[in-house]
Amino acid sequence: MDFTGRIGRLRGLFCKHGIDAMLVSKLENIHYLSGFTGSTAQLIITVNELFFLTDSRYYEQFKQEVMGGYQLIPFYTGTLGGKLAELGSSAGIKKMGVEASALTYAQVLELQENAGMEIAPVSGVVEGLRIIKEPEEVDCLRRAIKLKEEAYSEVIKLLKPDVTEAETAAEFEYRIRLKGARASSFSPIVAFGENSCKPHASFSSRKLVPASPLLFDLGVKLDSYCSDFTRTIFFGGVSPGWEKIYNAVLEAKDAAATLGKPGMTGLEVDKLARDIIVARGFDSYNENGEERKYFGHGLGHGVGLEVHEGPRLHSKSADILEPGMIITIEPGIYLPGQGGVRIEDMYLVTDNGFENLNSLPTDLKVVQ
Ligand code: GLY
Ligand code: MN
Ligand code: MN
Repeated sequence: MDFTGRIGRLRGLFCKHGIDAMLVSKLENIHYLSGFTGSTAQLIITVNELFFLTDSRYYEQFKQEVMGGYQLIPFYTGTLGGKLAELGSSAGIKKMGVEASALTYAQVLELQENAGMEIAPVSGVVEGLRIIKEPEEVDCLRRAIKLKEEAYSEVIKLLKPDVTEAETAAEFEYRIRLKGARASSFSPIVAFGENSCKPHASFSSRKLVPASPLLFDLGVKLDSYCSDFTRTIFFGGVSPGWEKIYNAVLEAKDAAATLGKPGMTGLEVDKLARDIIVARGFDSYNENGEERKYFGHGLGHGVGLEVHEGPRLHSKSADILEPGMIITIEPGIYLPGQGGVRIEDMYLVTDNGFENLNSLPTDLKVVQ
């Protein structure tokens, strides 16, 4: 990965934000700018210097992983504000950008009191760089998708009448680790029958329900990059009602995937899918174009070092899609107390449209 290029692009944004240095605290951003995969560190990036603050638990990891030319600054006692004051006076820092979403209000107050420089909370600065993926990152994401698809394909072969959601989720997590993933990218959603009416259901000891939706929303973290995918399948049969719902969700997903283009906003792509679900009679808009009863969530989101990142695809999103972004498309229809269907794939935004990075089919699947 091109850490020097990334650091250079971040420095190029200092002027726009009126800062002469940046404290980077969010772990995914630290990883993006240095390669570090540990769980305790802070970066201080000035116009001329790169400081990496961590404690002795991570000195070896620093040597092995951290690229870009950072100077290791031991930091295990005292306040962050005090450390900044020390480094800031020798590096001549006057105004430091800090990540508003990564620090608590108490931490910002402490910095303002002790750092001896102006502290400016900023938002989305490193995330704005991460939103366009480099080819090497797209390769990592493709590998995370492939590994998850292999594990999912194995797990659905284990479905049988008495199997529970929890056993199925455990099988997935066991298999992804054997295949080299560090972990799931989010707690697996395995929702059988009525439980699938909750878009983010928790798994439980509920047993498989024949002829009702079995919803699997699964992802892995491989070499720090995430995957995110949903299939809804049926066991032992499917009723005409669920088949109709499934086909409406699939048609909505395919409409967004084939008609979506770079240059569109997240709102416009969301609408491509939502209009189909409304036209098929499974949801409605009120006079403000807002009512969402059975497809209540947004159409999708970016994926990278985090499973949910920019751009956002929902009915208020002004994010403009650009080549190199990675997005999900994941419409769903959820009937309270009965169940739900969602289908989700990850796409690369290209110059011409959206390339599906998944390889598993989306046609209606009924296992016996
Ligand atoms: N796995 C959560 C989501 O699809 O956004
Ligand atoms: Mn998703
Ligand atoms: Mn998902």
